[in-house]
Amino acid sequence: MARGTRRRRGSHAPVNDPARFCDAAIAKLRAEVPGRAVVAASGGIDSTTAALLAQRALGDRARAVFVDTGLLRAGEVETVGAYFRATGLAFRVAEASEGFFGALRGVTDPEEKRKRIGAAFIRLFEAEAAAFGTDRLIQGTIAPDWIESGGALRDTIKTHHNVGGVPKDSKLVLVEPLRDLYKDEVRALARHLGIPAADRQPFPGPGLAVRVNGPVTPERVRRARVANAIVEEEVERAVAANELARPWQYFAVLLPVRTVGVTGDNRVFGEAVSVRIVESVDAMTAVAMAVPPRVLGRIAQRITRELTGEVVRVLYDITDKPPATIEWE
Ligand code: XMP
Repeated sequence: MARGTRRRRGSHAPVNDPARFCDAAIAKLRAEVPGRAVVAASGGIDSTTAALLAQRALGDRARAVFVDTGLLRAGEVETVGAYFRATGLAFRVAEASEGFFGALRGVTDPEEKRKRIGAAFIRLFEAEAAAFGTDRLIQGTIAPDWIESGGALRDTIKTHHNVGGVPKDSKLVLVEPLRDLYKDEVRALARHLGIPAADRQPFPGPGLAVRVNGPVTPERVRRARVANAIVEEEVERAVAANELARPWQYFAVLLPVRTVGVTGDNRVFGEAVSVRIVESVDAMTAVAMAVPPRVLGRIAQRITRELTGEVVRVLYDITDKPPATIEWE
């Protein structure tokens, strides 16, 4: 993800005066949304802040929608639901895994995956908006998602589906109350709105689809989900036990290779998982962490045991960014 270095402008910056920014944003939302609006709420800080502003501005004329794409991490619907409830945000969960798996059938190219996922999100929000009687979609897009001038997508390394993804034929009208803000400003605003700080690692919008290299099937996503949960649990345990400093991101990637292993007396031809644990400040660069071998050993044992016969080999990715990116796709 490319992240901007452009500096903020203007006295509206909420780091200085969140209350004033909040009042102005609410007035603007009321002007831009005469009727109803749906809000794309992913559980991240940006979209949660946008959703809460919309709720303050529009009351029940705003409907926050959280999409269960089928590509989420273990327990994510519950975690995000609890987070929304803690913020006082009313929301609905749209169960859409069939549509997303359908859109991804036969696709292995990472950019094509992102495009299909972006399109599936838009189609889903078109349907949600129509059902709610509106054409307005509120998104938590922030300034670094955009090129400095011209408003074009800045990230040419990986397409991010939350911006630029609205096809020309879509009738959705985008409303983006945070589009001039930087991350620290959003955090200040979120604090002002009483949104609890979510101490969670970043998770890519396209979800586990970019952590399943090769074909994205429900079966392979399930394997990636189990492996990701194990990496999260073991890293968090190691951090709590002072075996490891808290990493920026820690996850597992299911690789598109088949490899031979043994279970009991039997030969199995299974899959391989790569574990990635990195330090970073802003995701622009990252360093693969020197994780103690015993922590990696526990991860490898659990993954091969809890996915017996399915995953027979676990690798640790020692590549920094650059030259690699943080995610594999
Ligand atoms: P890369 O892999 O580009 O990732 O080094 C940098 C940061 O961005 C996250 N990431 C994404 N986030 N949509 C997102 O919202 C995406 O398509 C996407 N791809 C990568 C990644 O997890 C890391 O934090």
